[in-house]
Amino acid sequence: MKFFLDSAHVHEIAHALEMWAIDGVTTNPRHIQATGRPFLEVIREIGRLVAGTDKTVSTEINPHHTRWEDMVAEAEQLAALCPNFVIKVPSTEAGFKACQVLRGEGIRVNVTVCFSAVQALQAMRMGATYVSPFIGWKEANGEETVPLIQEIVTIRDNYAFATEVLVAAVRNARQIVEAAVAGADIVTAGFAVYQEGFDHPYTHSGLARFQSFWDQTPYGEW
Ligand code: E4P
Repeated sequence: MKFFLDSAHVHEIAHALEMWAIDGVTTNPRHIQATGRPFLEVIREIGRLVAGTDKTVSTEINPHHTRWEDMVAEAEQLAALCPNFVIKVPSTEAGFKACQVLRGEGIRVNVTVCFSAVQALQAMRMGATYVSPFIGWKEANGEETVPLIQEIVTIRDNYAFATEVLVAAVRNARQIVEAAVAGADIVTAGFAVYQEGFDHPYTHSGLARFQSFWDQTPYGEW
């Protein structure tokens, strides 16, 4: 199970690489905007953080593109910036076609903003490296998400597609666990989701108890 950090903040990514051994990074226009810095400057800096490793950085093309040719042209430029970049294209007819063309050129693709199993299936058929169902958005819309992850994983396994199932827009630790139980390959979540998920109040109260016993016990001689 791989953990990706969903962020464009360089300090968060550096911490998550060092302390949590994250396997990759996903960015999107919202994350880039939150940095207040130019898109190309930010993604170049993130690329430098993972240079020389097998960790990937999912980098989104201009979401205004509607023609696959325009998607491919921008994706080619972005992919040339850094060998770790995986290019995000949308789950649209043009996005799927762009995925097929880019994979033919050896450029890795993350088919993103995916909300249904048939969209995921088409992404896999077009050779997607990752397919990203946005479960947080679905759940916010009152929809079930575990059945979707299960269906996508089952379809992938049934036909032995090489695509990795990247569960995205993960909002809490419960969703990480649900994705893992459903057999997803990767989750991507924000910094606070991991930070809060790795912590537990009982761990702290348990440590306080043990500290009190420890303090009442002689250590002895080595
Ligand atoms: C995944 O690749 C996306 O960047 C992300 O999970 C989208 O969700 P958010 O921006 O709503 O967190």
